Amino acid sequence: MRIDGKHFRSIWFDDHTQIIDQRWLPHEVRIAALHTRADFVTAIRDMWVRGAPLIGATAAYAMAADMARDPSNSNMSEAYDALYATRPTAVNLRWALDRCREMLAPLAEPDRASAALQLAHRIADEDVEMNRQIGLHGLDIIKDIAARKSGPVNILTHCNAGWIATVDWGTATSPMYHAHDAGIPIHVWVDETRPRNQGALTAWELGAHGIAHSYITDNAGGHLMQHGEVDIVLTGTDRTTAAGDVCNKIGTYLKALAAKANDIPFYVGLPSPTIDWTVQDGLRDIPIEDRDGAEISHVQGKSASGQIETVQVTPDGCTVANPAFDVTPRSLVTGLITERGIAKASREGLLRLFPEQRQAG
Ligand code: MRU
Repeated sequence: MRIDGKHFRSIWFDDHTQIIDQRWLPHEVRIAALHTRADFVTAIRDMWVRGAPLIGATAAYAMAADMARDPSNSNMSEAYDALYATRPTAVNLRWALDRCREMLAPLAEPDRASAALQLAHRIADEDVEMNRQIGLHGLDIIKDIAARKSGPVNILTHCNAGWIATVDWGTATSPMYHAHDAGIPIHVWVDETRPRNQGALTAWELGAHGIAHSYITDNAGGHLMQHGEVDIVLTGTDRTTAAGDVCNKIGTYLKALAAKANDIPFYVGLPSPTIDWTVQDGLRDIPIEDRDGAEISHVQGKSASGQIETVQVTPDGCTVANPAFDVTPRSLVTGLITERGIAKASREGLLRLFPEQRQAG
């Protein structure tokens, strides 16, 4: 997507892997180069890159960098373990690492570096295309709503499932970009998404694309829904079970409950690598990342003098808890927008679109 009119992906390769370092967004666009395994591990764990699909693509480029240094089996498995340990919830990480290992293991060592880099490029390109397709399928839903009302379609989104959470387009945002480009008037309610305020990234992206939006507190959604100000809730996901339960950024579940209570459709955009076919029950089986309490006790922002600063919001010594994701049961999900179309949030619904998984399951 565009930054100041110039097209960017969130990750690209130019002699080495380059990323938009998201720690400084939305205030500054800084590019960082990743060279060593430690660079990649830090970038994923400390959220220089974030968002399930982008985490997966970054892991693939990490494996390519590691194979260029030492293509041995022992190094491959060390790299796998170090990267796998960075963030537990987004399943795209495991999916990308497994895909790398399966493709690389049978190859002779001298062939591994270039094959790993080609695979990383392929994973990145596939992500862009899957997200584009999600946008086209989601566009149909937005078109339907637009046909039934006057004025803009009001979409509420949580976290950042935008182009910088993927390689390009985003998942939840792709239908928004497609609708806007098709001339359908939309307005997006952007949840701030405490504690890390990923909503500010979404607002930054939408603003750069000229899409009308309002940044709201995480607690405003229910009120807006009660007053008819939300036509559809549209989010991303970090892991969706084979039975259709959706794990996403903390607070998503509350939005889904409020949507159900107000008879508002709740859709989730996801590329198929975000489906964990090995897991049925999201509440029982998806590991929820517990992050550093400093993300809650402290807040980063731009000061009046233009400096990026961090301030403490809690009393000294305050105990905090920071579960980073929650699970929305499939009963609250209207539909799953995948690259192959829109599935019911159920095992049968997903298998109808991905019949090749019948055997695997
Ligand atoms: O902790 P984050 O910022 O990586 O969490 C991101 C999300 O929860 C997104 O909604 C999800 O990864 C989907 S991104 C297309």
